[in-house]
Amino acid sequence: MREKTGRKKSRIMGPDDANIAGNVHGGTVLKMIEEAGAIISTRHCNTRPGERCVAALARVERTDFLSPMCIGEVAHVSAEISYTSKHSVEVQVNVESENILNGAKRLTNKATLWYVPLSLNNVHKVLEVPPIQFVGKEQEEEGRRRYEEQKMERMETKERNGDIILPVINPDRQRKEPYTVGYSQSSLIHLVGPSDCTMLGFVHGGVTMKLMDEVAGIVAARHCKTNIVTASVDAINFHEKIKKGSVVTVSGRMTFTSNKSMEIEVFVDVDPFVTDTQERYRAVSAFFTYVSLSPEGRPLPVPQLVVETEEERRRFEEGKGRYLQSKAKRQAKLQPLTQQ
Ligand code: COA
Repeated sequence: MREKTGRKKSRIMGPDDANIAGNVHGGTVLKMIEEAGAIISTRHCNTRPGERCVAALARVERTDFLSPMCIGEVAHVSAEISYTSKHSVEVQVNVESENILNGAKRLTNKATLWYVPLSLNNVHKVLEVPPIQFVGKEQEEEGRRRYEEQKMERMETKERNGDIILPVINPDRQRKEPYTVGYSQSSLIHLVGPSDCTMLGFVHGGVTMKLMDEVAGIVAARHCKTNIVTASVDAINFHEKIKKGSVVTVSGRMTFTSNKSMEIEVFVDVDPFVTDTQERYRAVSAFFTYVSLSPEGRPLPVPQLVVETEEERRRFEEGKGRYLQSKAKRQAKLQPLTQQ
């Protein structure tokens, strides 16, 4: 048996959730996904008597935005636990959008998240996860394979530390050439308040992802000056907690453009003013891919990124590698369908 949420969570999308063209922000969807994951995993990890805990988001697998969601539609978010290791929980979340005027439903996202239970008495103590019962041996094996795979990937992709982007608070864009990295590079600064935080006083993963998507969206809009939407987010590892009262600087820069997509690298740097150690640290970084849309909602060609330095050239080539790899994976997934 797989663990399921008793009911789906549903919410009607309003203007606050969307851009000026009426498309719901990728960040809003990511936040809803994370909330559903946090609820089911925290609930599951507290099913045994003993120490109480809160499940913290440790990782989100690569997430694709399959179709747009619009103001007035209802988002249905459902979550189920698909694997448990000794100290982590894998949650699968599906998001469907429903047009309540005609009942039509579309799958907009499928996401996989990993949570780790942290003791309510000691935020640094990782607790054991009650195991789930699998329907069969095959499901268990598949789950273990996914667990081993992400563990391996985590070891390989070290955090991109150093490389701090200076916040662009008063950008002198007049002096920058359009379509260069510097022209669209953007930052936002946020003071972490109680409503951003879990019961343990550190930021919800969904809040951080929403801020990251906001910055990536600003970079994309500055670059192409059209309506833009999130197409995908690469796997994100959350290595460090962000404490209430900290100031976070979220910075984004464009790394790569294909014909019709833009890759934006986003960093979250934290100034923990309220703790003893006040040194800035990098909490998380990720790559977001954006697409520019015509007023009719069709993908448009994007202006090509102008790279000016060796570093920018290197990042462009790395971005191209990621782009080609994910395109090949998408095509491989589609092939069996087209052959049917
Ligand atoms: N993705 C998935 N699982 C992860 C992970 C990641 N990035 N990092 C650790 N884990 C899993 C490990 O596999 C292990 O489970 P296992 O023993 O069943 O294999 C479990 O977490 C504990 O690992 P451990 O090495 O003991 O803990 P840690 O010191 O690496 O701490 C976290 C793990 C998640 C608690 C820590 O990295 C953290 O606090 N991250 C920030 C969490 C957070 O604040 N989230 C919101 C961010 S805005």
